[in-house]
Amino acid sequence: MTTTDVLHQTEPRAGASAAPCHTTPAADPYRWHIIGASVILTATLPALVALMVLGAPKPPPPPWSIQAAALGVDPHEITLGETTYLGACALCHGKSGEGIPRLGKPLRNSAFVQGAGDAELFDLLVNGRLPNDPANTSGTLMPARGAQGIDDARLAAVVTYLRAIQDPNAPTVSVEAWNTRPADGTGDALAAAGGPGYELFIASCSACHGANGEGMEGLGKPLKASDFIASKSDSEMVAFVKTGRPVWDELNTTGLDMPPKGGNPALTDEQIAEIVSFIRTLQQ
Ligand code: HEC
Ligand code: HEC
Repeated sequence: MTTTDVLHQTEPRAGASAAPCHTTPAADPYRWHIIGASVILTATLPALVALMVLGAPKPPPPPWSIQAAALGVDPHEITLGETTYLGACALCHGKSGEGIPRLGKPLRNSAFVQGAGDAELFDLLVNGRLPNDPANTSGTLMPARGAQGIDDARLAAVVTYLRAIQDPNAPTVSVEAWNTRPADGTGDALAAAGGPGYELFIASCSACHGANGEGMEGLGKPLKASDFIASKSDSEMVAFVKTGRPVWDELNTTGLDMPPKGGNPALTDEQIAEIVSFIRTLQQ
């Protein structure tokens, strides 16, 4: 093959496009610039997007998802249990189940909770545990259905929540401080004598006045042997509990607030009357 032959072959054949040679891609001096630029663009854009997606902070996992997976339940069940717990149980057992001395026992990392089956826990929440129950070591009432008539579905969710706050790797918490049931059976007598007012008292008043009305330093006065209570009729006592005694009241003796209805606006007049009859049994 001669040089002339080669030149001939590259020449456009007769009848083919008459476009001048310098506009074909092969001859475009910017060809590689354009190819290079488009390769860079097509490769870097997705790479940038991928980096942004991977580098963005991961959205937090939905609450309780880890515990729910471990327990094989829907996370919403635990959330419902938690909400119910905060509304009905935290008052006595603490916001995160740490327990409150002289009220509810610890429930987080609790040997009792871990040792009890679901049905046993559910029964306890439905029925409560009276001060004279052999299993009761504090002498304080654990009220039935959180003292708020909580329905079965919510109590079952609370059982699931109690499971979710057990850490199998953490040591269980001591309940020694709650083993205060008087050996002489005073608590039993109170529960027996107090009737329905006792349960209401425990739920609304004992946080400040103590489970046996003995008073709590910096919170509420003793309600045993009170001249004030002795001097008032039942209806005057109901009226007093409804208004409370704010710090600015000239009759206030402690500089602490006695909130209207003990801070529980749901109490009816009849319920307050029952609490008053219970308080009467403390006066001897
Ligand atoms: C008015 C206070 C009060 C409320 C409200 C209350 N508890 Fe209790 N709870 C107690 C007391 C006091 C005890 C300890 C009784 C005893 O000495 O055995 C107790 C015991 C328990 C125990 C057994 C613990 C153990 O170690 O034996 C569980 C479980 C429990 N409560 C769960 C709940 C749940 C869940 C709720 C809410 C639905 C609730 N409690 C509401 C006062 C309360
Ligand atoms: C948040 C704490 C708190 C709660 C809850 C509470 N109290 Fe009180 N209560 C007080 C304080 C503080 C006083 C004392 C006020 C003063 O300085 O005179 C008091 C005083 C009283 C007195 C007057 C005692 C006396 O000798 O003067 C009675 C009766 C009483 N409370 C009943 C109740 C009843 C019944 C309940 C439940 C429905 C209740 N309290 C709930 C804090 C509380």
